[in-house]
Formats: sequence, C-alpha cells, structure tokens
Amino acid sequence: MSDFKSVFEDQIQYFDNFAKDYFSNHFDQKLKNTKLFDSVLYSFNSGGKRFRPLLCYSFAEAFGAAPKSVNSLALAIEMIHTYSLIHDDLPCMDNDDFRRGQPTNHKKFDEATALLAGDALLTESFRCLIRGYSDRPDLAINLVNLLSSYSGFEGMILGQVLDIQEAKTSKVTYDQLVYIHKLKTGKLMSLCLEGAAYCLGLDLFKCDIAKTLGDDIGVFFQLADDIDDIDQGKDELSSVRLLGLDGTMKKINEKLEQIQTAFSSLSISDGSRLSKIVEFIKPANQANSIKLKI
Ligand code: IPE
Ligand code: IPE
Ligand code: MG
Repeated sequence: MSDFKSVFEDQIQYFDNFAKDYFSNHFDQKLKNTKLFDSVLYSFNSGGKRFRPLLCYSFAEAFGAAPKSVNSLALAIEMIHTYSLIHDDLPCMDNDDFRRGQPTNHKKFDEATALLAGDALLTESFRCLIRGYSDRPDLAINLVNLLSSYSGFEGMILGQVLDIQEAKTSKVTYDQLVYIHKLKTGKLMSLCLEGAAYCLGLDLFKCDIAKTLGDDIGVFFQLADDIDDIDQGKDELSSVRLLGLDGTMKKINEKLEQIQTAFSSLSISDGSRLSKIVEFIKPANQANSIKLKI
C-alpha cells in the first residue's frame, strides 16, 4: 500500500529545495546569524506535511503545467501557514508546548522571538510573491491581493477570532462551525488552488471552481481532523460533538461528492495526484492517513 510520503516524495523534495534556495540566497549573513532566523527555519522545517504546496503542485500537474510556475505561490503560502501555527501555539492563543512532536517555537526560543518569527514569515510571503512573479506584474498584483484577503482580516484571521470566540460558547451550530472551517483552513486551500489557476492563466470560470474546491477541501480536511482528534480529547469545537461520529462521516462523504463534482468540472482525473491528496485525508483510510505517516 502506498503511503503519503512515497506518492508525493518528489514534489516535497522539489519544494524543500526551492525553499532552501530562497532562504539561503535572499538574506544577508547578519540576519542569518540571528536567533530570529534560526527560529524561522526551525518552524519552517519541522516536519510539516507540505500539504498546501502539494495542492499547488498537484493542481499545476493536473493541467500539464511545470511545477516552477507555482513555486513562489507554494512558498508564500507555506510561509503564511507556518506563521499561523507559530502564533496559534503562543500562550495567548492555544498555549501549546508541542507541535509535530517537537517543542513549539516559543518553547524552543522565547515568546518575543516566536512572535517576530511569525511576523517575519507573514511579511516575507508578500515579497516572495513579488520576487517570483515580477515578470508578470498583473499576476503578481492578483496574487498579493488574494493572499492578503484570504489570509487576513476577512479570511484566516477572522476564522481564528471566531474559533476563539465560539470555543467559549456551547451554542455553536454545525453551519457556524463550517463557516469557521472555511475561513480558518479553507481560505488558505482556496489560495493554493485559485492562486495556481491564476498562475496557469486559466479562465475565470475555472478559477472560480478552483476557489470553491479549496473551500471544500478545507472543510473536508477539518472534518477529518475532528475525527482524528477524538482520541486526543480535543473536541471543544468539533463536528463530532455536534453530530456524532456517524453524522460527521455523513458530512464528510457529502463533501467528498462536492469535491469530486468540482474535479470533473475541471476534467481532473481520479488518478491525478490532486485527487490522491483527498483520498489520503479521508478518515476511512486511517491505515494510510497522512497523519500517521509523518
Ligand atoms: C494544521 O495543518 C493546522 C490546521 C489548519 C488544522 P496541517 O495538518 O497541514 O499542518 P502541518 O504543516 O502538516 O503540520
Ligand atoms: C491552527 O488551528 C491554526 C490555523 C488553522 C490558522 P488549530 O488550533 O485548530 O490547529 P492545531 O490543533 O493547533 O494544529
Ligand atoms: Mg492550535
């Protein structure tokens, strides 16, 4: 049975090499000697699945495009993702001591460094897009606009705020939970697919399907995460608490159908790696789930 890493090994390696070159070549030695730079690299390279870059590469692959067309998009999004996790773990947020089996950034370094490492990654993500697409200024502007709106105020940040707010109440409905999932997780996934669609120059109709597909994959990912979290007692704001295990599985299967419909509208085949990513997320496949393989 194939596992996540073996299916995506070449894309993960390709992305890691691109990121390594970026961090090695774009900063001067003075910065590289700081604790801040160490803390950025500590979190960036601490064993994340690279799920979002893989969405960008697999989308490009499904349309027969070269991976380099989405390199800077993939890196900018992974920077945002890494920053969001560093900040999410801080004492004023989720107050977590471990991430990916290792001390969280503020535990390994200190709170001020962790806060600044997140700030640095967030701001660098914009420069990464500008650097990567400076030869296509219209595309660069579109991507910067997309990145700021999907990760910011009305996107991921709003999702985080609502998550904190709603976790304190017991009245959250399933629809509200899905809304939070779409913002907190779906927006970055939409950024991967809609952003990649822009990079490939697809028409607006396809860009729009890519956006909705990203939302759906985000919700699917979070519902699967809720099932994975049952064993860890992390069920505060969870579909399992609202709908039970069977109810959540039903919603997961409904989402899967929506995702498959979007795949066929985009003529993305079952055998594509984009469609394989979704198979790996599905909790029914726990034996080869991505969570268990890292
Ligand atoms: C974790 O995302 C945060 C959520 C959005 C639930 P991932 O599961 O993609 O995190 P890493 O990067 O692989 O650790
Ligand atoms: C992670 O959210 C941060 C974002 C999605 C922006 P969670 O708090 O739900 O995920 P974990 O459990 O820390 O990975
Ligand atoms: Mg958290």
